[in-house]
Amino acid sequence: MKVLGISGSMRAGGNTAILVQEVLSHISEKGIPTEYITLAGKEIHPCIGCEKCKEDKRCTIQNDDWPEIAEKMVHADLLVIGSPTYYFDVSGQVKNLIDRTYSLYHDRQLAGRKAVAITICADKGGTRALETLEAFLSTHEYGYLGHIIGRGYLPGDVRSDTLAMNSAKTIADRIVSYFGTLDD
Ligand SMILES: Cc1cc2nc3c(=O)[nH]c(=O)nc-3n(C[C@H](O)[C@H](O)[C@H](O)COP(=O)(O)O)c2cc1C
Repeated sequence: MKVLGISGSMRAGGNTAILVQEVLSHISEKGIPTEYITLAGKEIHPCIGCEKCKEDKRCTIQNDDWPEIAEKMVHADLLVIGSPTYYFDVSGQVKNLIDRTYSLYHDRQLAGRKAVAITICADKGGTRALETLEAFLSTHEYGYLGHIIGRGYLPGDVRSDTLAMNSAKTIADRIVSYFGTLDD
């Protein structure tokens, strides 16, 4: 698989989902394989800070949806990760996912992949939420291909954010060019 898109919103058809899928659809039009997952309805427990992953190289919590998501992240060449803005930051579900990637950090299982970050806010705080995503990507040594901050409150509102919808196309073009530079 080439590109994995993750919408971190609990609203399955919300604005984050729309923007992440917008990027993916432009990419798949060019024949690049994509996979989309939503964190809506997923169970992702918080990291318990046991540090066992330092030795085991896997998370000790195995009774939720994290192991399957981790597998997909490890096998993706490029990650498009999106989060709604909650109190000027990422949503709790996204933060749980970020914290659980600690299990992939010790032996840099995500390093060298590329990433795009997306946040959506109704009014303010999208930039700060984006910083959290960027800190996560930078820590894991992802190469950064850009970001989108979309605007919207009710599900679907982001479709009226012309700038964000156009940015999805621009970013998708950048991703397509990136894959064009690879040998495979
Ligand atoms: C708990 C909660 C906190 C929120 N905090 C903010 C915020 O700090 N700034 C903002 O502009 N919008 C905030 N919003 C609005 C959401 O960011 C907005 O509705 C967004 O479109 C949600 O994306 P989604 O449709 O992908 O879930 C908040 C919404 C919720 C439910």
